[in-house]
This record gives sequence, structure tokens and C-alpha cells, in this order.
Amino acid sequence: MNDRFLRACRREPVDCTPVWFMRQAGRYLPEYQEVRAGHGILEVCKTPALAVEVTLQPVRRFAVDAAIIFADILLPLEPMGLQLSFAAGEGPLIANPVRTAADVAALGAVRPGDDLGFVLEAIGQARSALAGEVPLIGFAGAPFTLASYAVEGGGSRNYVETKRLMYNDPEAWHALMGRLADAVAGFLLAQIAAGAQAVQLFDSWVGALSPDDYAEYAHPYTQRIFAALAGRGVPRIHFGTGATTLLPLMATGCDVVGLDWRVPLDEGWESVGHDTAIQGNLDPVVLFAPEAEIERRVLDVVKRADGRPGHIFNLGHGILPGTPPAAVGFVADLVHRATRRSP
Ligand code: CP3
Repeated sequence: MNDRFLRACRREPVDCTPVWFMRQAGRYLPEYQEVRAGHGILEVCKTPALAVEVTLQPVRRFAVDAAIIFADILLPLEPMGLQLSFAAGEGPLIANPVRTAADVAALGAVRPGDDLGFVLEAIGQARSALAGEVPLIGFAGAPFTLASYAVEGGGSRNYVETKRLMYNDPEAWHALMGRLADAVAGFLLAQIAAGAQAVQLFDSWVGALSPDDYAEYAHPYTQRIFAALAGRGVPRIHFGTGATTLLPLMATGCDVVGLDWRVPLDEGWESVGHDTAIQGNLDPVVLFAPEAEIERRVLDVVKRADGRPGHIFNLGHGILPGTPPAAVGFVADLVHRATRRSP
């Protein structure tokens, strides 16, 4: 089995740098669009055969060193009582956002086996289908990013409602974050039991917080999750964007930190500390550039990793719709070729 991704998570030597791509299953792939033409995004997530099919699509097409289970970070909000939908081309919407202490108190607990069993089943089936070809990553949203959707009712630019709750009713905020952390910890433990070989916590929008606010209002809850996952031999990856000033705190409790492209990889790794592995960090928009420019920038990322064990090549955020699939394959092959070491 190809285990260079898991070895790099543990900062063990590898034959070449492993590579996978956030959002590697998605709309930029024609075969994904074909599946989506007949099924809504939530329907794909809730039908294990479809979720497994789209999970495997990038593994068939590209030399990626990991698969990530096809699901969405917002799925646990449904069993908590939030009405989630995806409007075509507009992103997620929550019809009954959480705005008050009473709204927080009314949220239900998540029972992963009963409420999110379709994800666990998809993980089991994907493991069988992969047959050890590459490891399978499970994932969840981090409490702050989930809270931002739950409170705003959708995506946001300034997170005014989220921070309004945080600053005006810290007790309700901490209660909300505690419930989200418990839901996520239980869900990730269930994903590991179902066969996930690494887990990534996506705190995509945490860069909206200052370091002090992060320390007080968000960090304790990622720590609660990582502590619940400790000692299982399953690498814990922590990813955020716009989070350069938060990196030293984000590195606590996890095994791998995912960097966005706003920080040079060597500087990011320095602030994380070299005793933690690093993932990243090519700007996803570089995949729209000519091959020579892609190559120059991939080699720059590789050079900044400096041959140190514990680098997993990835983008600094997810693959964007409209990305040429050939560019994704080009990067995967180039990373392997450029980092080949003697065993
Ligand atoms: O290969 C993979 O990584 C795909 C699995 C995956 C999805 N969502 C499927 C999806 C993963 C890892 C996610 C995580 C996710 N979902 C995040 C964190 C990662 C990130 O990009 O920051 C966030 C913030 C969400 C919430 C979400 N889901 C949004 C904002 C949207 C709409 C955005 C868009 O691109 O339209 C979704 C829908 C969604 N989830 C899509 C996919 C492939 C695109 C919608 C579609 O197929 O119609």
C-alpha cells in the first residue's frame, strides 16, 4: 500500500513528497458534474454509493497519495436542528440560524451512528473499494467555522452576527462552541472507527479572528476535539485560511498544520515548529496559469520544505470550479518527480 501520506504525517522519511488536494472531488471534474446532474449535493452526501463514486474519481484520474471521503462540513448541523440547504450557485443556507442563548439551548446532540451513519457507511465502502491503494482521510468542520454558518445562516464577509453573539453573550457563545466541539469529536471518533486513517479539521474561516479572540473564543474547542482523538495512531490535521498569526496556537494538539498560500511555507513551518508536520500551500489560482509558471511555483514550495521529513504537498485552499483537470495531474506528477529521494 502507498503509505507515504501517513508516513509524512508522522514525519517519517518518504520516497517522495506525498500530494493530495483539498476539494479534489468536485465540480472541476466532468465525471463529478455528471453525477451531480442527477443528484443534489446533500443527496450525494447521503447516498453512500454516490459518495464513494465521487471520492474515487480523483484517485482514478491522478497520482494522488490520499483520498478524502466525499461529505460536507455542514452535515452535523442538520441533526442539531438546523435546516440546511444548498441553493444552486449560491452556497449553503440555514433557514433557522442560531442567534440567542435560547437558540443554543434548543440545539440537539449528534448521535453519529444514527444521524450521520451514511458518512460512516461511505467510509467503510470507500476503504474496501480503495483496497489499500491510498489511505482515506475523514474530516469535519472546526467549531468556529461551523458556528459562523450556524449563526450567520450562510457564508459571510464580516461575521457580524457571529461576533455579535461572541461579544454580547459570551456565555451563549461558549455553550454553542461546546456543543459543536462535542458533536465534532464524536463524529470524528466514529469516522475513525469506520475506517478513516487520518482526519482533517477544517477551520476555513478562523482567520476572521484576532489572536486574542482566537485564544479565548475558539482555541479551547479545537483542543477539546484533538484531546478526544489523541492516542489512536490516527494523524490529526488542522487547517485554516488567513490564519498566519494564529499558527503557533493552531499547532497545539495536532500532528499536521495546513497552511494557506498567504504565508511562505518555510516561514509558516517556522511558526508552527518543526516538530509538527506541514501541509500546503500552493495558491489554488496558480492552477489556472501556464505549465511553466505552475512548475516554477510548485518547485518554490518544495524548495521551502527543504527536504525536511513531514511535508505533505497540497494547495493553500480547495480546488476552485473551472480549474483545468490537467493542471491537477501535472502538479501531482511534478511533486513526485521533483522530490524523488533514494529509499
Ligand atoms: O474532495 C473534497 O475535498 C470534497 C469533499 C468536501 C466538500 N465540502 C463537498 C462539497 C469537503 C472537504 C468540503 C468541506 C467544506 N464545505 C468546507 C471546508 C473546506 C473549504 O473549502 O474551506 C466548507 C467551508 C464547506 C461549506 C460549503 N459546502 C460551501 C461554502 C459550499 C458551496 C461552495 C461552492 O463551491 O459552491 C459547499 C458545497 C459543496 N460541498 C460542494 C462540494 C464539492 C460544491 C457544491 C456542488 O457540488 O454543488
